[in-house]
Amino acid sequence: MPPSSLQSARGVRDVLPAERATWELVEGAARRVARAFGYQEIETPIIEPLELVERGVGGDTDVVRKEIYLVHSRAEPDSRLVLRPEATAGVVRAYFQNRLDAGPQPQRLYTLGPMFRHDRPQAGRYRQFHQFDVEAFGSGAAALDAEVIEMAVGWLAELGLTGFVLELNSIGDDACRPAYLELLKAYYRPRKEQLDAECQRRLEVNPLRLLDCKAPRCQPFKAGAPRITDHLCPACGEAFAEVRRLLDAAGVEYRLNPYLVRGLDYYSRTVFEVSHEAVGGAQSSLGGGGRYDGLATALGYPNTPATGFAAGLERVVLALERQRLAPPAPSPAELAVLPDGEGLAVAAARVARIARGSVRVAVDYSGRSLRAKMRAAHRAGYPWVAIMDPAEASREVVQLRHMASGEQREVAWRDLPLALRTPGGPTPSRDASGGVRPAMPTGEARA
Ligand code: HAM
Repeated sequence: MPPSSLQSARGVRDVLPAERATWELVEGAARRVARAFGYQEIETPIIEPLELVERGVGGDTDVVRKEIYLVHSRAEPDSRLVLRPEATAGVVRAYFQNRLDAGPQPQRLYTLGPMFRHDRPQAGRYRQFHQFDVEAFGSGAAALDAEVIEMAVGWLAELGLTGFVLELNSIGDDACRPAYLELLKAYYRPRKEQLDAECQRRLEVNPLRLLDCKAPRCQPFKAGAPRITDHLCPACGEAFAEVRRLLDAAGVEYRLNPYLVRGLDYYSRTVFEVSHEAVGGAQSSLGGGGRYDGLATALGYPNTPATGFAAGLERVVLALERQRLAPPAPSPAELAVLPDGEGLAVAAARVARIARGSVRVAVDYSGRSLRAKMRAAHRAGYPWVAIMDPAEASREVVQLRHMASGEQREVAWRDLPLALRTPGGPTPSRDASGGVRPAMPTGEARA
C-alpha cells in the first residue's frame, strides 16, 4: 500500500504501460479496419445534455434509469449534463449540428473513447470503459448493416481472436413491431404472476425486453413466446434476408437468435451481438449494434436511416489476454545511455539525441554506480546499452553493448544510428534455433 490511502474511484481502472501495448494493438486494428471500409474518425465531447441521452437511449433502459452520471459544476449546480454512457446519441447530434447531413451520404464515422455507466463493478464491467464505435448515416440499405457486422468481426479476427460468436436478429420496425408486441403481451399476461418483479413491470412498459431477461424464473416462458422473426412485415423480412445473404457471401458465420433484443431502445430491424466465453459470465458481450432508423427523429432531427455498432475495448483486451494473444510488455526504449562518471549529462544527452535518429533512447542520469545502472537497464529490458566514461566522452565514442549476448564494441557517436539500424540492430534477429545471432565482435563489458 502506498503511503497515502487515496485510491481511484470504484469501478475504474488504470491502464499501465505494460498493458498499453495490447491497447495499442486493439486501437490500431480498429482504426485500420474502419479506414479500410471508408470510415472517418470523429470525436465528440464526453459531456452531453441529459436530454440527448434520455431521448436517444430511451427512458426505460437500465442505462437511463440507473446508470447515468450527472455532471454539474459548483458554479452551475443545476446544469443538466451527463457523462456519455455510449457514443451513438452524441454522434447523431454531431452529424446534424455540424451539417454532415448536407454532405455526401452515407456518412461513415467512427470514434474511440471513454464511456461511463454506474453499474456494479465486476471483471469486464467498469464504470468508465472504452468503446470502438462505428456509425453509418443516411442509407437504409441492409447492405450497410452487413458491412458494420463484417467490420466488427473482421477487426476481432485481425486481432487473432477465435471462438467468438455472432448472434443476429431482426426486431422489425414501426410497421410490424406494434402488432408483434401485442402478441407478446397477450402471451405473457396470463403468466404475469410467475415473472419476477422487473419483468412484470417490463410487460407493460417495454415488453420487448422480456426476451432479454436473464432471471431463472422467467426462462421457462421464453421458448413458447411468439418470435418476432415470424411476424416481420415484407420490407423488414426482405431486409433481414438481404443481411443474411451478404454475410453468407462474405463467409461471416452467425447464429440466428430470435430472442436477441438490445439493452438500448433505439433499434429497428437488424440487431446483433458478438460474445466471447473467454470474457465470461454476464459480461461476455464484446460488442453489439444494429440499425436505428428512428433515432434521428426521436431526437428532433430530420428522418435519417442509420446503422452501427460499438465494442468494449476492456473486454477485447481481456479476451486477448485470456487467449494468450496479448503482446509482451515492450522495453521502454531500445537503447539506454549509461554515463559512467561525474559531469557527463550534457554528453549523454547528446549521444541520446544522435541515437534517436534510428531508435528510442533513454538516459540514466542518476548518480548510482555503473554496476547499478547495468542492473537497472537489465531489469527494464533494454536490448542495448551505450556506456561512456569521461575519456570516451572526450573522444566522442561509447561502448555499445548488446545485453542478451554480452557482445560489446566501441562505436563513434556519429555512427550510432547506423550501428543500431544494421542487421543484429536493436531488435536482435534470431537464428533458426531461436538464439541471438552474433552481430558484433566480442569485447569485454566494464560493468
Ligand atoms: P452496448 O451494447 O450498450 O451498445 O455497448 C457496447 C459494448 O460496450 C458492450 O458489448 C460491451 O463490450 C461494452 N460495455 C458496455 N457497458 C460496459 C461496462 N460497464 N464495462 C465494460 N464494457 C462495457 C452501445 O453502446 C451502442 N451505442 C452500440 C451501437 C452503436 N449501436 C449502434 N451504434
